[in-house]
Amino acid sequence: MTAAVMNAPLRHAVVTGAAAPPVESASEIPLTAEEFERICSVLFQRSAIVLKAGKEGLVRSRLARHVRRLGLHSYTEYLDAVEADRSGSERSDMIDSLTTNKTSFYREGAHFEYLQDTVLPRLFGAGDRVRIWSAGCSSGEEPYTLAMLLHEVVRDPVQRGARILATDLSSKVLATAREAQYAEAATAELPWQGAERYFTRVNAGGGRAMRVRDDVRSLVRFARLNLIETWPMAHPFQVIMCRNVMIYFDKDVQQRLVQRFWELLVPGGHLFVGHSESLTSLKHRFSYVQPAAYVK
Ligand SMILES: C[S@@+](CC[C@H](N)C(=O)[O-])C[C@H]1O[C@@H](n2cnc3c(N)ncnc32)[C@H](O)[C@@H]1O
Repeated sequence: MTAAVMNAPLRHAVVTGAAAPPVESASEIPLTAEEFERICSVLFQRSAIVLKAGKEGLVRSRLARHVRRLGLHSYTEYLDAVEADRSGSERSDMIDSLTTNKTSFYREGAHFEYLQDTVLPRLFGAGDRVRIWSAGCSSGEEPYTLAMLLHEVVRDPVQRGARILATDLSSKVLATAREAQYAEAATAELPWQGAERYFTRVNAGGGRAMRVRDDVRSLVRFARLNLIETWPMAHPFQVIMCRNVMIYFDKDVQQRLVQRFWELLVPGGHLFVGHSESLTSLKHRFSYVQPAAYVK
């Protein structure tokens, strides 16, 4: 964690005057500049995510339901309740609600093509035990795409010891990921008739859903991990994907993360970032391979 994250000031707003009357709709609760700053400060300290000015509407739309659920009248009362909750679950819910979890199967497909055509055949050919980390995996589409890819490249990835670690800060998205059920439309982007080959149709909540097959699921282990805290992994990886995550961090945090990814990759290991991210403004020792893909 950078000094900036550790030392960012947490400003305490002061509640003044008599309690406000109950509001009809929490979305009508005004968000003061001081409250916005206080929310940004908590989010930055706990996740390194930087919320810029102009995101006040996003904050209100994401947090209003928590204010309503707790029967509170203002964001100051809500922030005080978050701070007072010793279990930390209110704070986790708040941070979960403020993270952006957009993802999809086979997103930014050029990375998967490169892995399938070049990286994975080479690793399996050399008899390596393939270890992949999907860092900031959201609801599971990215690591499950990787697991399907392993099945595309070799017939028996589980027996060959291939493994994918998939981590995220948000417990909510991890629960969805572990459930492994998706809308049929979500699987449409997969090539190699992936929807037919790697899912089974199930009834879910009165509708139809697609469930990731067990031999795909068994390649992936999900865990909660905050990228700005200590990493418990003991073994290096051949591939790390951290895509569309660092874009929410400031340059200091990105710099430190890229160095830590370097340390956790084997020589010749690959780092993939999102296509709208790049390492160009950072100091690093990776070699460029193709857009948003680097090798140690
Ligand atoms: C936009 S999603 C990206 C998902 C996937 N990698 C992709 O590209 O489709 C970003 C994810 O990063 C996670 N995230 C944000 N800050 C994090 C942190 N400090 N530690 C771990 N995960 C974090 C969010 O919870 C979210 O699920």
